[in-house]
Amino acid sequence: MLSHKCTNGNDSTFQHRALVFGATGYTGNYLVKRLTERGVETYAHIRPGSSKASSQAPVFEEFGAKVSLEDWNEEGIRELVRSVQPTLVFAVLGTTRSRMKVLRKNGGSSHSGSYEAVDYGLTAMIHRACEAMEDSPRFIYLSSMGVKAGTRMPYLAVRWRMEQELRDGKSPWTIVRPGFITGSDREEFRFGERAGAMVSDGLLALTGWMGGRRTRQKYRSITGDELAKGMIRWALSKDGCNKVITTVDLWENS
Ligand SMILES: NC(=O)c1ccc[n+]([C@@H]2O[C@H](COP(=O)([O-])OP(=O)(O)OC[C@H]3O[C@@H](n4cnc5c(N)ncnc54)[C@H](OP(=O)(O)O)[C@@H]3O)[C@@H](O)[C@H]2O)c1
Repeated sequence: MLSHKCTNGNDSTFQHRALVFGATGYTGNYLVKRLTERGVETYAHIRPGSSKASSQAPVFEEFGAKVSLEDWNEEGIRELVRSVQPTLVFAVLGTTRSRMKVLRKNGGSSHSGSYEAVDYGLTAMIHRACEAMEDSPRFIYLSSMGVKAGTRMPYLAVRWRMEQELRDGKSPWTIVRPGFITGSDREEFRFGERAGAMVSDGLLALTGWMGGRRTRQKYRSITGDELAKGMIRWALSKDGCNKVITTVDLWENS
């Protein structure tokens, strides 16, 4: 096990520099917004082929962030990390089953858009770039509730593997494991997630009313903005270094 050096935490005068991957997503968007609001020098990575590139880039620039359209390849990502010299790297990207379906329909290879290739492959690529730095940044990884050893679901299994790589590397890390990330402000309507969150939040409200406050906090859904604020709070705190953050932790001091 390497050292995972945790520096710069809890020092309010320290000037952080953040690099966000998956910036065009629901959570990533709020991360860029809230980081810049806090005065953190922020870089937002947008994949060159993203359908959101032309609409999101000016929004990020208006927030005060710098935008990178670096290609997704080993050299490009390594060079981006080397040139930005971030102290915090946020990895909040991932595909969905509906995206995979569209890719297959359009004749794309099922591997290139899989959880293995995107959720694991691209995140691992960012992590290797961080590991190559002399002063590795803190790697803040958006994982998921339910991730554990031996899981057979591909979505959770690739996250467990990525989490293990973080623990085995030298870069300091913060792993965040939320439940449903959803809200009426999500641009893309996801019926399954919204319906699932509404049912479980309803049942949990009842549990909370009956005294199960902690259970409610553990499983309730979270919006992109609430998640981004929680992630930033833990990323800037020494207590969040080399720690797995659950939904309960995200609500703490929020
Ligand atoms: N939704 C939930 O309930 C939930 C719960 C726990 C964990 N998570 C995980 O948390 C992460 C963020 O969630 P979210 O809801 O904020 O995500 P989201 O809105 O779906 O955004 C996903 C991000 O990943 C990027 N991405 C997708 N496919 C890509 C590809 N092939 N190559 C490069 N970039 C790609 C997207 O970029 P483009 O804009 O360019 O497509 C976008 O920036 C995901 O990994 C998700 O699986 C989600």
